[in-house]
Formats: sequence, C-alpha cells, structure tokens
Amino acid sequence: MTEAVTRPIEPQTPPFPADRTCPYHPPADYGPLKTAGTMHRATLYDGREVWMVTGHTEARALLTDKRLSTDRRNPAFPVIAPRAESQSTVVLPLLGVDDPLHATQRRMLIPSFTVKRIAAMRPQIQQIVDGLLDAMAERGGPTDLVAAFSLPVPSMVICSLLGIPYDDHEFFEECSRNLLTADTAREADAFRHELESYLLDLVAKKEAEPGDGLLDELIADRLAGGELERDEVVMMALLLLIAGHETTSNMIALGTYTLLEHPEELDALRADPSLIPGAVEELLRFLSIADGMVRVALEDIELDDGGVIRTGEGVILSTSLINRDEGTYQDADGLDVRRSARHHVAFGFGVHQCLGQNLARAELEIALTALLSRFPTLRLDVPADQVAIKPGDTLQGLFALPVTW
Ligand code: HEM
Repeated sequence: MTEAVTRPIEPQTPPFPADRTCPYHPPADYGPLKTAGTMHRATLYDGREVWMVTGHTEARALLTDKRLSTDRRNPAFPVIAPRAESQSTVVLPLLGVDDPLHATQRRMLIPSFTVKRIAAMRPQIQQIVDGLLDAMAERGGPTDLVAAFSLPVPSMVICSLLGIPYDDHEFFEECSRNLLTADTAREADAFRHELESYLLDLVAKKEAEPGDGLLDELIADRLAGGELERDEVVMMALLLLIAGHETTSNMIALGTYTLLEHPEELDALRADPSLIPGAVEELLRFLSIADGMVRVALEDIELDDGGVIRTGEGVILSTSLINRDEGTYQDADGLDVRRSARHHVAFGFGVHQCLGQNLARAELEIALTALLSRFPTLRLDVPADQVAIKPGDTLQGLFALPVTW
C-alpha cells in the first residue's frame, strides 16, 4: 500500500456545499479550488473532511471506478446536509445502490428512456410547451416563468411518462420542494413519507385498475412477476418523479435567466435556432445544476500524483468546477453557445450517468426554442441581482423568475 503524500496545505479547506452568489457561476467560496491541482479537500457542515474532485480527467476516471460506492446505507457515506442525516435508513434505488443490484434496476427502466422512445414523445412535449406559452401570452406579462412555464413543462411530461395524474401536481411539487430543502432530517423524512404514502396508494389503485404509464408497466411486469417489491416500485416512482421535474425545471428557468444576462449569445440563438441543441449542452455545462456527486471509497485508491483516497473517505465530485476545467474547456468561465461542450459531466458519468438525460435534452430544446421565438422581447421584470437563488445544498436554480415582454 502506498503512503499518502504530503500535500501543500490549503490555507483553509473550503466548505462544501457553499451557496452561489451569482446564479450561474460556482460559489465564490470554491475560488481556492480553481487554482493548483485537481484533487482537493473540503469540509462538510458536520466538520468532516472529504476529497473534492475538480479535474475533468480525474472525475471521469473516478466515476467509473468500482471502488467508489453510492450506497448511502454505508455508515461512512458523507452526509452533505442535516436533512440527509437519516440517509442510511432509506433504500434509494439506482442512485443509492451499487452494481449488480443497480444494473438490474436500471435495466428495468432503460427501455422507457432511450433516444427512440424520447423522440416519439417530442410531439407531445411540443404540445405541452405550446399550450403553456399560449396561456402565458393570453394572460400577458409580467409573470413568474417558474410557475407559468419551467415547472409545469417537466412536471406534465413526467406525469404522462410515469402514469401519475397531473391533477395531483400541487401536492407532489410542494412535497418534492420541501423534501429537497428541508432543514432537518426529521422534516425531510416527514415529507418523504407523505410522498411515499401517496405513491403507495397510487400503486394500489393501479393494481386494481391498470393505466398505461411506466409505473403501470413496472406493476404488471415486475411487481406481479415478483422481481420487485411494492416498496421498491414506490421508491423508483419517487426518484423518477422528483428527478423528472425538479432538475429540468431548474435548467429551463436558470437557462433562460443566463441567456437574458448574455444578450450576444441570446441574439445568436434567435438568429439561428439550429444552434439550440448545442446551446443546451453548453448551458448544461455552464450551469451544472446538480453540483456535487457524492461517493465513499470501499478500498484505498491510489491517485496519479501518488496521493491515496483511503477506505471510508468521502469523495465529492463538483460538477460546476469539473465542467469549468480550463484543461478541457477553453475560456471555461465564459458562456459560448457555439462551443462544443461535449463530454461535460452535468449528467454525471459512468454507470450512474443520468437515466433521464435524453428526456431532459428534448424538453430543454423544445422549451427554449419555443420560448425564444414566441417571446422575442422577453426580459427580466426585476434587476438581475434581485432574483432569488436556491441554496448550495440542493439542486441549483431560481425560486422564481419574474419576466415580462
Ligand atoms: C437537466 C436535467 C437533469 C440533470 C442536470 C440531471 C443530473 C443528474 C446527475 C448529475 C446524475 C448522476 C448522479 C450521480 O452519479 O451521483 C443523475 C442521475 C439520475 N437522473 Fe438525472 N438529471 C436531469 C434530469 C433527469 C430526468 C428528467 C430524470 C427522469 C426522468 C432523471 C433521472 C435520473 C436518475 C433515475 C438517475 C440515477 C441513475 C442511476 O443511478 O443509474 N434525471 N442525473
């Protein structure tokens, strides 16, 4: 076993997670991590020190390293916020389990998220987007783009994909938001239980009267066949429901804000909408809304520079810093809708890479294309620095986006 090398001591290890001060840039507190090296140390709220990976090459190597686990039931798994203090008692499918169980679960869901399946959903997504923009135009500005557009688009789409009644959206959107921003584990557990019991009831209803969503397929094919327990179906539904609407909603709102703050890039997209698919990749890179993938080492891992991640140590992979690695992206802190932002890790990398990425891309392309062409004079209705930013310990985004046109 290699001895850990002595690293130059960073003046003070920065906190992880920290709050952003600008909605589209990594937190200023991470500043010291942008210089010198790609493997750093950071301190969690409970005082624990963890590794913080900021290099693109190192991140991709570590994200495919089976010695790093995502199993939150491991008592050594880093807790990144008080609300996650009971994480070891929750069996989170996919994101919370390692292979081979992870691969078995993922295989059950992959057919619903292939490029082909998502391409077939495009007309329906377009219809949802157009309907919401029609309503916005009819009501007239100013409006909150989050409530009017960025939240309902992915929420309606994921409801249709899973077979969850959209009529219940106020309940599950509020529960998800509360769960992701709760101050304590007790509160987070209460919100999760509310969602779980709602989904348990829904599964029971669907067993009695099947519909035609992914949940119905899981019930008919996997629950009835004994491959999945009822609790597992419920937790899969919970993960897909939350990941399916909270992430993309943040991207649409924050993406719009960022474009409004970069008028040259916005003009380029308006002049040539064929740039939008590339712009979506660049916005995913630039915004890195899921800023921090968390792992624990199951074995010692030797690093290229001679350092060692010790068994039981926590590892944070900061997407916002990895996606701004100057070694991979020239002028990484600049937004450039014409650049090739390929290979960003905004959707992660390796076996846990985002299951919903094809869906998210389709929604973002359709939503941004329609919004920009339909509202050519869209602008912020408040000074840019008055838009409220979500805290650093949750998905990055905006609570509301007041716009007018
Ligand atoms: C722009 C929107 C999205 C972003 C930025 C995003 C980001 C991510 C990231 C970074 C991961 C990897 C986490 C890790 O390795 O620790 C991930 C995994 C995942 N995402 Fe997404 N996501 C988005 C949209 C979606 C959507 C729309 C869905 C579902 C419909 C979804 C479902 C999932 C699931 C189920 C996983 C776990 C996959 C696994 O463990 O195998 N995501 N996402």
